[in-house]
Amino acid sequence: MTVETKPVAAVVTRISGPIVTASGMRDAQMYEMVQVGDAGLAGEVVRLQGDRATIQVYEDTTMMKPGAPIRRTGAPLSVWLGPGLVGNIYDGIQRPLPGIRARSGAWIRRGEKVDALDTSKRWLFHPRVKAGDTVSAGAVLGAVDETALVEHLIMIPPGVAGVVRSVAAEGEYTLLDSIAELDTPDGPRKLTLLQKWPVRQARPIRERIRITEPLITGQRIIDTFFPLGKGGTAAIPGGFGTGKTVTQHQLAKWSDADLIVYIGCGERGNEMTEVLREFPELKDPRSGRPLMERTILIANTSNMPVAAREVSIYTGITLAEYYRDQGRNVAVFADSTSRWAEALRELSARLEEMPAEEGFPATLPTRLAQFYERGGAVTTLSGERGSISIVGAVSPPGGDFSEPVTQHTRRFIRCFWALDSELANARHYPSIHWLRSYSEYVEDIAEWWGKRAADWGELRTEALKVLQREERLQQIVKLVGPDVLPDSQRLILFLAEILKNGFLTQSAFDEKDMYCSPERQMAILRMILTLYRRGSDLIQAGAPLVKLQQLPCIQQIVRAKSSFGNDELEAIGTLETEMNSELDALAKEYEGKGS
Ligand SMILES: Nc1ncnc2c1ncn2[C@@H]1O[C@H](COP(=O)(O)OP(=O)(O)OP(=O)(O)O)[C@@H](O)[C@H]1O
Ligand SMILES: [Mg+2]
Repeated sequence: MTVETKPVAAVVTRISGPIVTASGMRDAQMYEMVQVGDAGLAGEVVRLQGDRATIQVYEDTTMMKPGAPIRRTGAPLSVWLGPGLVGNIYDGIQRPLPGIRARSGAWIRRGEKVDALDTSKRWLFHPRVKAGDTVSAGAVLGAVDETALVEHLIMIPPGVAGVVRSVAAEGEYTLLDSIAELDTPDGPRKLTLLQKWPVRQARPIRERIRITEPLITGQRIIDTFFPLGKGGTAAIPGGFGTGKTVTQHQLAKWSDADLIVYIGCGERGNEMTEVLREFPELKDPRSGRPLMERTILIANTSNMPVAAREVSIYTGITLAEYYRDQGRNVAVFADSTSRWAEALRELSARLEEMPAEEGFPATLPTRLAQFYERGGAVTTLSGERGSISIVGAVSPPGGDFSEPVTQHTRRFIRCFWALDSELANARHYPSIHWLRSYSEYVEDIAEWWGKRAADWGELRTEALKVLQREERLQQIVKLVGPDVLPDSQRLILFLAEILKNGFLTQSAFDEKDMYCSPERQMAILRMILTLYRRGSDLIQAGAPLVKLQQLPCIQQIVRAKSSFGNDELEAIGTLETEMNSELDALAKEYEGKGS
């Protein structure tokens, strides 16, 4: 299907990298898509003045000359929405990378036009309405089994309502076949499996609702200490090499979302290749199916044009909204929003806009807000619950969190996972710092946890207290050494060490531990904190700390996270029983000796 263009006498007058100025554009509209030059490079109108338009071009403008023709499309940059999105890999303007490779044999050729979805493929459609039904926007016309993990609901597009005149029988249809006809106030209207939506515009919802459920990620420090709600927003700021990408990959692999949109935005090409190679081989821990059956990848690496990077964020979030509208929980990962902000900076400089902090455009905060605001838990137009959780990596230069992108992002997210270079250097992964990170979702999701582990809130508060006290004690240790501390305080240092090694660290490469179920998280934490409470009692009773440190169970407790998988909770129970009998024996020895 080719895009229709309007023949006009518009020509390129000036070229500055990805920014092109054109004349003869009098009737053009803001954000209208155009085709630039003989090759028909994809571009978007970003400024209009009289008959002059400024266009940002999504493809490389090398060799373009003034006088090159411009064709208008009359429509804003839109994405295709329909079956076939899941499992696909797109560039920033939704050109399918595998499709393009199949045609041009290599990477994307300039001006290459490939449909975002395969229009010849037939999908088995199960109708859910009948002639005579009154339907409105968001109502489900029928369903298509898109993958084994995703049932794709075919909805009435926003802004459309009417009475079903006819609906296709169960059978196989292409994206362009008519599957229903509606009588609308504006006359009859044919509907297909395909919809389009302009990426810069949020899709409509009925209302925003409260977040009540956590997005379970299987990462202990996140789920237990700094949880993200389904529909929540989070940032992962971290200096060079601190683990932003590995953390995002972990979340994309193991989160309990129905659908994942992963936007590789301006990162190195090899990182994206890793995703492309690794994801198709990974299995969903809940269903055992390939993870790609619930994943859409958007790849816009550092060597691709900056304008396409700018728009890739909107492309990704629009795809997410479309599945949210089907009543799904979607998670969006963007790596890295700093590279995206750099694209904004470059485009803004080329547009000769007045720069604000560190050369970023003055609109940076608004742009960040607009992105994160598209997340949230909602009631969809059809009355279902749906959500979009957004996790953005931030790469502050030099790891300095006071720079503009980190600072502004902080205003629009409610969960902050601060990666720490010192922890990363010490190979403490994930290097999320327990004292500098926070989550504002703890109260929202406490009830959810309460039903599964009544002591979740208590355990997390107690563990964080131990870690806070440890930080303070470390200051003293630095000044005078650990020997002056009484055993009751050295117990804190000892326990914090167990918490760090036995709970907070979690290797992304450990088969047994890369995903830790909520139940296993609680089983391990409960055991460690029981050790803490009973240890404190023992020390009160006069037992020296060294006795506790020498208990045979200690090493096993630290190793429990990788010794026992998610289906070996009983073994953790057995270890805890062992620990308790060792503590009992110690208690007997010191019974009555307490002060
Ligand atoms: N959870 C983890 N488990 C094990 N190793 C990890 C973990 N997180 C990070 N690492 C290690 O840290 C290295 C760097 O991580 P990563 O590439 O994610 O950093 P980054 O912050 O994305 O870097 P950049 O700034 O270059 O984008 C990884 O190659 C891996 O060895
Ligand atoms: Mg990275």
